[in-house]
Amino acid sequence: MGIRYLEEERIFKLDTPNTTYLLGVVAKEGFLGHLYYGKKLEDVTGAGYLSRVEEPPFVPEKNDRDRSSFFDAFPFEYSSHGVGDFRESSLKIRTMAGHVASSLVYVSHEIQKGKGKLAGLPATFGNEAEVTTLTVTCTDPSIGVNVELSYSAFEKVDVIARSVRVINASKEPVWLEKVMSLCLDLEGKEYDILTLHGSWARERHEERKPLGHGKYAVSSRRGESSHQEHPFLALLSKNADQTMGEVYGFHFAYSGNFIGQAERDQFGQVRVVMGIHPEDFSWKLEPGESFQAPEVELTYSSLGLGGMTRTLHDLYRRHMIRSPWLHKKRPILINNWEATYFDFTADKILDIAKESAKLGIEMLVLDDGWFGNRFDDNRSLGDWWVNEEKLRGGLGRLVSEINALGMKFGLWFEPEMISPESRLYEEHPDWAIQIPGRRPCRARNQFVLDVGRREVRDYVLEKMFAVLHGANVEYVKWDMNRPLTDLGSAALPADRQGELCHRYVLGMYEMQERLLAEFPNLLLENCSGGGGRFDPGMLYYSPQIWCSDDTDAVERLMIQEGTSLLYPLSCMGAHVSVCPNHTVGRTTPFATRGMVALAGTFGYELDVTKLSDEDKAAVPRQIRAYHAFNDLVREGKYYRIASYLENRDHDCFQVMEDGGKKGLIFFTQVLATPSSRSRRLPLQGLKKGSRYRIFQVNLNKEELLTDTGRVYSGDVLMNAGLTLERPWGDFQGRLLYLEEEK
Ligand code: DGJ
Repeated sequence: MGIRYLEEERIFKLDTPNTTYLLGVVAKEGFLGHLYYGKKLEDVTGAGYLSRVEEPPFVPEKNDRDRSSFFDAFPFEYSSHGVGDFRESSLKIRTMAGHVASSLVYVSHEIQKGKGKLAGLPATFGNEAEVTTLTVTCTDPSIGVNVELSYSAFEKVDVIARSVRVINASKEPVWLEKVMSLCLDLEGKEYDILTLHGSWARERHEERKPLGHGKYAVSSRRGESSHQEHPFLALLSKNADQTMGEVYGFHFAYSGNFIGQAERDQFGQVRVVMGIHPEDFSWKLEPGESFQAPEVELTYSSLGLGGMTRTLHDLYRRHMIRSPWLHKKRPILINNWEATYFDFTADKILDIAKESAKLGIEMLVLDDGWFGNRFDDNRSLGDWWVNEEKLRGGLGRLVSEINALGMKFGLWFEPEMISPESRLYEEHPDWAIQIPGRRPCRARNQFVLDVGRREVRDYVLEKMFAVLHGANVEYVKWDMNRPLTDLGSAALPADRQGELCHRYVLGMYEMQERLLAEFPNLLLENCSGGGGRFDPGMLYYSPQIWCSDDTDAVERLMIQEGTSLLYPLSCMGAHVSVCPNHTVGRTTPFATRGMVALAGTFGYELDVTKLSDEDKAAVPRQIRAYHAFNDLVREGKYYRIASYLENRDHDCFQVMEDGGKKGLIFFTQVLATPSSRSRRLPLQGLKKGSRYRIFQVNLNKEELLTDTGRVYSGDVLMNAGLTLERPWGDFQGRLLYLEEEK
């Protein structure tokens, strides 16, 4: 495995366990062409023909008259701009003279074991035994700019991580106006495109449609990866489903403005590009300076979407999440947001904590409203000192009392924000992102801090550190509740204003890095008005991200389905809340809410002192199930069995221990149906030749497991399916445990 250079053919062969990626240096000019990406190939002798230079439209050296025909059809590894390729370009550089053309040719390459860091950016990592990296240096000799294309092939995971660095080797400044992190030219097969879309409280719903001619893009220009569109797309063969068919997945490890686009050209070929959105972006590069573009994770599966999902889960668990909490059971938390919103005192929080401790809850998280003059969401962001009117005796005292109950304590911050009504804004109005002379947009009555500025980051971190050093805070929820608008930075000169959004993201990453360096054991949970910044980049800093402000069990089925398409369940912040649900008003059984939250990090977000006796009695039972099964949920292999989004009837997925010895089946019948017939659902990930005993997991009975007495072969369960009786009533969840018979 790894990466090899086949010198004679000038081909680079990148191998992962089940895939091969080929690129080659083509023609006298040294164009870098894409040859192949797909199922693993052993012998690639003569594969250079895949660049198709012998077919019309030829290479310029053989037919310069048709240069444009060549540029407009050749499968480029990184597309040019303005020289004859009219498909999407990868790089747009404005020179001092105002020209924007670029075209790259090969200069040199290097193959190294391991993988270097990307300066200031989150990225996958791996040691010398786990990953090999190819760096191809290209140049545009006309403008004196060099481009390094990096490819890291993983040994155990079918992923190639790609990134790009642009170096100004000329004697004049240049302005980067577009730097894609990935360009991939695929053969002209018929594809469907799969993306994730959403809104606040409805994040990451899957959408699949045929890819026609022209361009289809997902993007964000909100300054964050966004609730609305996700930095991900996949191309699927027409027959692809969960278990079969071809899938190319592209996932961008970046938390700001992005674009991911698939384009079917005049010849039916498909070009995918992904990177920082070129709108609202430009970056001045002085001579000798370089620009590092973020990383795209690229995966190919011949085993359908399920293959892609499990590959990405493995990738993020092994090579992206750094937190010491990654493989640990997270403390079961109770968050006071839906319990009290801004209306709380230390006594109220302590009452919740006392009741929670009795039930087995392990950590109290104090959400928004504990600081400054924060009695509602109109003020005080930036004033990170304790509101003594609410928390008499200060945070230290409250935390000690909570610790004395045997519970941990966690705290909410929104570090990137500033309220117009705050002491911070009185002192530093120029720290807010805004354009002089233009009335700035107020979203949730707050402005965004210009965290691209060092002094702003230092100030906020100093205040946060003081709070965190002053009390035993073991968890932080880092929130971000509005998008970026009115893009103006008081600290940037006119020809660098286009750098604001990316500088903002780099600044935010640096803040999280410094927070973790100061508190290495901190459990950090990211959040953005729910799941508005749920992307692989944020996982580099926090092992979990709040999935959505919508805690309704049925809405969560769809949100968590889309999220788990890409992310391990251990990343998905999920809590049990009260009914009628605060976002949609729906009433679902407490057990179903518990089951849905058990498929994530698990916790509560309600006033436990007000729960009915029946629900209160169920809490320790749900907690018992968490302790019994969280190892499986956190580390297991994920299989999607049925999609409620698709069938509008029921939802089902499995998590299996690696090796297929035991697993869990999560099933929800959303609306009751009158048919008396039971349904059969083919399971996945079992051992064909083994037999499995099926248990019912009880979330509201004395005993955790009831042996159903049913023992079936893996073969039958996977092909004929497991019979599930239709439950009685709406929104009924059923959790089953299956174990291989010895
Ligand atoms: C948005 C988050 O998603 C909520 O959980 C809560 O923390 C609020 N912000 C607080 O303002």
